[in-house]
Amino acid sequence: MVTRRSVLGGAIGAAGAGLLTTGGLVPLLSAQSAEATEAVTVPAPFTVRMPTTPVLSPISVLGGQDTYAVTMKEVAREIIPGVQTKVLTYNGNFPGPVLRARSGRPVVIRHRNNLGMPVSVHLHGGNVSPENDGGPMDTFGPGTSRTYTYPNQQAGAGLWFHDHAHHMESEHVYRGLSATYLLSDENERSLPLPAGQYEVPIALRDARFDEAGQLVYVMDDVFGRTTILANGRPSPYFEVAARKYRFRLLNSSNMRFFQLRLSDGGQMIQIGTDGGLLERPFTTDTIGLSPAERADVVIDFSRYPVGTKIVLENTLGPGTPDQVGKVLRFDVVRTASDPSRVPDRLRTFPALAPATVQRNIVLSMDEDGREEPRGFMDGQEWDYQRIDQTIAHGTSEIWTVTNANKIVPHNFHMHLVQFRLLERNGAPVGPGEAGAKDTVRLFPGETVKLHATFNTYKGTYVYHCHLLDHSAMGMMANFRIR
Ligand code: C2O
Ligand code: CU
Repeated sequence: MVTRRSVLGGAIGAAGAGLLTTGGLVPLLSAQSAEATEAVTVPAPFTVRMPTTPVLSPISVLGGQDTYAVTMKEVAREIIPGVQTKVLTYNGNFPGPVLRARSGRPVVIRHRNNLGMPVSVHLHGGNVSPENDGGPMDTFGPGTSRTYTYPNQQAGAGLWFHDHAHHMESEHVYRGLSATYLLSDENERSLPLPAGQYEVPIALRDARFDEAGQLVYVMDDVFGRTTILANGRPSPYFEVAARKYRFRLLNSSNMRFFQLRLSDGGQMIQIGTDGGLLERPFTTDTIGLSPAERADVVIDFSRYPVGTKIVLENTLGPGTPDQVGKVLRFDVVRTASDPSRVPDRLRTFPALAPATVQRNIVLSMDEDGREEPRGFMDGQEWDYQRIDQTIAHGTSEIWTVTNANKIVPHNFHMHLVQFRLLERNGAPVGPGEAGAKDTVRLFPGETVKLHATFNTYKGTYVYHCHLLDHSAMGMMANFRIR
C-alpha cells in the first residue's frame, strides 16, 4: 500500500529513530533537553493574552436545524507576537471556531475546500451515519464542497471536528484544521454550572516553529514540538475573576500527552470526560489528557486573593519544564459574584447492557529505529478495503485493548461510539475515566478493557491510535456493524 512518505516523496526523515534513545514520554524531573532547536522568536511565557475562541454563527436556524457554512482556507495569523504564521483554518480561525449545538437538534455544515489538498471532516465523538463520518478515504478535493449532517442524537459532550484525509490528517490537523463542537443537552442546561463568559473552551497543543516563526511539520516529530499553545498562543496568561470557571479542555496535539496541575497544587473539580458529564464530580490536583481527549473542569478562583497568579503546569515531557511545563497562567484580577454551583449529582448512566462478544485489540509500531516506522493494529497496517471486525447491530461488546510497545505511548479511539472503561491493567479505572469515553490513553505495556454498544448506525467506521502521526503510519483498522 502507498505510504504517506511515498506520497510525499520520502523526504520526511528519521525522527522516529529518536524514540529509541529517550522514549516517548519523559517525566520532566529527569528530562534531557530536546534535540530540536528552539525557535528564537517564541516569547517568554505569560507575555501574551489567551484569546477566547469565537463561536460560529449559523447561516440559518430554519427547518428545525442549524445550518453552517465553513470555508477552509490558508491564512496568516499571529501566534508569536509580531509574526504572521501560515495556518490551515476553518473560516480563518486558529484554533478553529467553537460550534455550539443542542442534543436532538440537527446541525448541517457545508464545508468549502479552498485548500490545495483533499480533506475530510470528522466529528470526533459524534454519533453520525457512515456517510457523514468524514472517514479517511471519504475526501473532497480542492475547489469543491461537502455537506455533513449531524443529528446530535446523543448526550451533551465536548466534541470536536478535525481533518481525517488519510496520510494527511496528521499534517492538516497540526497546521490548524481542528475545532471545538460543544453539544449541550437539557440535563446539562438545568445544572447551575458556570456559564456564559465563565465557561471557556481551551484547546491545548504543541507546535514547532522555524526561525521565521512558521510551523514546521516533520512526521513523528516526537521531540521537536516544544512550544505549547493554549487557544493558539504560546504559554499565554488569562485574566479571571475570583469565582468559579468551567474550562472545556481539549488536547488537540498530534502526539503530546499532557499531565496538568496548578502551580500551587490547588484542587480542580473534574465534571466531565470525552462523552459528557460524569455521574459525580470529583476533586483532583492533576488531569491527564492524551491526544484528542477532553476534560470538563471547574476551577474555583475565589480561594485566591485578587492579584494572585497561578500557573497551569504540564509535568510530562518530551521537552524540558522550561519548554513544555508552562501551559498558561491564570491571573486573578477582580472579584465577581458567583451564583454557580457544582451539584453532587451531574448525570445518571443507564446500566451497561450485557456484552455478548469479547475482542482483543493490539496496538504496536516499529521501535527498531528504522527510517519509516510502520503502525499496526493486530499486526497489520490499515487497509481501507479490509474489514477487521464485524459486529452485529444492537449488541454490546467488551474490547480488551493493549499497547504492545515498550517505549512508545499510544491511545485508542473508536468512531461512532462512546464507550465505558471497565478496567485499566486489571484494576478498576480512576474517577477521571469513569464516564463516557471515545479515546483512552495507553502507555507502553498498558491494557484497558472497554464496553461499547453498537445500537445506532450500521456501516463501516475506523478505530485507530489518535497520535495522528501514528494513524497516518497505518495504526488504524475498520469495523463494520451490520
Ligand atoms: Cu479524532 Cu478518527 O478521529
Ligand atoms: Cu500510537
